[in-house]
Amino acid sequence: MSLNILVLHGPNLNLLGKREPGIYGVLTLAEIDRLLVTKAQQLQVNLKILQSNHEGELVTAIHEALDQQQGILINAGAYTHTSVALRDALAGVALPTVEVHLSNIYRREEFRHHSWIAPIALGQISGFGAKSYLLGLDALVSHLRSDI
Ligand code: DQA
Repeated sequence: MSLNILVLHGPNLNLLGKREPGIYGVLTLAEIDRLLVTKAQQLQVNLKILQSNHEGELVTAIHEALDQQQGILINAGAYTHTSVALRDALAGVALPTVEVHLSNIYRREEFRHHSWIAPIALGQISGFGAKSYLLGLDALVSHLRSDI
């Protein structure tokens, strides 16, 4: 059976390309999604990709993943640091989850150092720009296939 992965982008990530490019890079979200789709083709997995600025929409997408996807790749944006609801949703569906961030959140303001998601994620990749997503997808698929 081929793997289905849910990719979630949280708030303000729709502004990538224009948004603080010195921190988040110059690629747009559409360009990052294209890189992810190419990577997914190489790995022979299917992606469902959603960006939302609304916490509840992200929660609902996580619930819907329960019967449809085998793993979740998430950049929750600022909700990383605030949302118990997202963490509970991820814990509730108990799907293997990899957390990613474009910037290295530990080199930035202190309020970004805490992630509600990290303790219930398989792992976190932070600081490699768009590559964080590609490395995260690789890690998630490798885990799901028990490659090593
Ligand atoms: C981010 C880091 C968060 O602190 C921030 O709120 C974002 C983007 C990142 O990808 O580096 O929106 O998740």
